[in-house]
Amino acid sequence: MTVDRAKTGIKGLDELLEGGIPRGRTILVTGGSGTGKTILGMEFIYNGALMGEPGVYLTLEEKPENLRHEMAEFGMDIPKVEKEGKMAILDASLVRLGLESNERFTLAPEHFDINHLVQSLIMTAKNIGAKRVVVDALPSLDVLLDEDSNKVRNAIIEINYLLQENELTSILLDEMPSGAGGYSRHGVEEFVVDGVIVLTKLEALDKRAISITKMRQTNHELKPQSMKIVRGEGIVVEGTISKI
Ligand SMILES: Nc1ncnc2c1ncn2[C@@H]1O[C@H](COP(=O)(O)OP(=O)(O)OP(=O)(O)O)[C@@H](O)[C@H]1O
Ligand SMILES: [Mg+2]
Repeated sequence: MTVDRAKTGIKGLDELLEGGIPRGRTILVTGGSGTGKTILGMEFIYNGALMGEPGVYLTLEEKPENLRHEMAEFGMDIPKVEKEGKMAILDASLVRLGLESNERFTLAPEHFDINHLVQSLIMTAKNIGAKRVVVDALPSLDVLLDEDSNKVRNAIIEINYLLQENELTSILLDEMPSGAGGYSRHGVEEFVVDGVIVLTKLEALDKRAISITKMRQTNHELKPQSMKIVRGEGIVVEGTISKI
């Protein structure tokens, strides 16, 4: 049976995924700081919007205004797709700090808890007829989950379930502690998602890499592929790295 897939539209990535991320699934994109997680997540939503699949970007860290500016650098006209109703940035960056946000899509600071957050995410998705969701990023939810890996695991299972019920294809961004072996912050996230993409920096070689370490329903390579972040273009996946 052929698998229906959501194209990321990221140069060189869909080819590695037999066409894209299996529809309705939730995947983890993880990496250290500055590895391109936000750019990848934004491209997934923006390219989806251009392909007629609206998307919601839940930001828990950077302010929407900063994201709009940063993404313009990579050729993404975020305000345009927002005006067209094809993309919504759900702002939880300020409310997480107890401050009100002036953004159209947000929630009250006193509602910063997992239930309200997931509810707002699903409501915003319904509001614009979204097919895609990105959460930037999971570690910002840790305070709500007492930094407890069991609670993190259960919360992700629940979020997955709701996203899948609403036929959303989703990317959860996570952080990987450097040198710690595993793929995620708590070491449990990778087991409860349908796919894992790891972004790395090879500082000494001045290179970046992207690896698909898990993708259900997909025949993919495990080898790290060379990747670039290019002004005006965003992420460009180039091919297998011969020497690491
Ligand atoms: N114009 C540019 N050209 C090339 N690379 C750029 C450009 N602007 C930013 N970058 C690279 O992109 C990185 C930022 O990417 P991004 O914000 O997606 O990372 P991140 O993984 O989300 O980081 P964090 O963990 O801090 O959220 C910068 O650290 C820089 O290396
Ligand atoms: Mg980021």
